Amino acid sequence: METGLRNKTALVTAASKGIGKGCAAALIKEGCRVIISSSNAKNLEYALKEFSAIPGAQVHAVKCDLNLKSDIQNLYEQVKSLYGGIDILVNNCGGPHPGFFEELGEDKWDYAYDQVLMGPVRLIKLFLPSMKQKKWGRIINITSLSVFQPIDNLILSNTFRTGLTALAKTLSNRFAANNITVNNVAPGYVLTQRIKELAENKAKVTGETAEQIFEKMKSEIPMQRIGQPEDIANAVVFLASEGASYITGNTIHVDGGRVVSYF
Ligand SMILES: NC(=O)c1ccc[n+]([C@@H]2O[C@H](COP(=O)([O-])OP(=O)(O)OC[C@H]3O[C@@H](n4cnc5c(N)ncnc54)[C@H](OP(=O)(O)O)[C@@H]3O)[C@@H](O)[C@H]2O)c1
Repeated sequence: METGLRNKTALVTAASKGIGKGCAAALIKEGCRVIISSSNAKNLEYALKEFSAIPGAQVHAVKCDLNLKSDIQNLYEQVKSLYGGIDILVNNCGGPHPGFFEELGEDKWDYAYDQVLMGPVRLIKLFLPSMKQKKWGRIINITSLSVFQPIDNLILSNTFRTGLTALAKTLSNRFAANNITVNNVAPGYVLTQRIKELAENKAKVTGETAEQIFEKMKSEIPMQRIGQPEDIANAVVFLASEGASYITGNTIHVDGGRVVSYF
């Protein structure tokens, strides 16, 4: 399928590792100019080096801690001076702190609010005018299957990602006439640093090994395998493409069939 993405400008946040990195790689391979950002300069440098080896890669890296308003403003200013604006915004972030309600203090709630919800709000506010001007835009939020069914020990994800989903649907109505779509991709289990850490944490509590936790995860997935960042990236590329221009306000779960509800 011709995606029509050549020379579009895309910003992918939290893109030094895992799902964000997979999305950035896929957009680079489609011929997009891609700005990657993350909070750790060393991680970002490694990712930039790897991406620069992709034939024809147009890629730029800007350090940005998504929990810092000033970093988001700086990211915007750097991108604006380089490219004027962007066509595609992929809102990814680090994983919210795991834990049950009784375990999480207000500091963790405040952090996750900025991390999951206000980061995208701030980025959309800053980059929307350039999309409106071009009368073309794609906003794609990486969320989680937690928006379909709560994950018991991920209450911060459950709470703020459903808020982000509501934001996306509301904005999709508002910007549709500007040819700007707003959608979410909700991963199931994907093999990244984050899922390894979650499995190790769980293993400490249950007394199982991380391998046993992974086997259990697999057994809950009809496809019988843990996803790869590329599985998520394929959905992001599709939603960014011209072919998806009539899809907005939607959430695609990419989970090997893991979500048990109809929708
Ligand atoms: N993996 C899964 O199974 C799964 C399932 C559902 C949802 N998700 C969600 O998808 C998102 C990505 O997960 P992942 O599995 O790819 O995680 P990951 O492999 O741990 O990668 C997280 C990324 O976030 C960046 N990051 C962390 N804190 C940041 C900050 N303050 N500001 C900017 N960037 C930051 C990290 O880069 P630096 O350290 O360089 O900043 C890294 O690039 C998370 O929100 C996660 O909860 C994951």
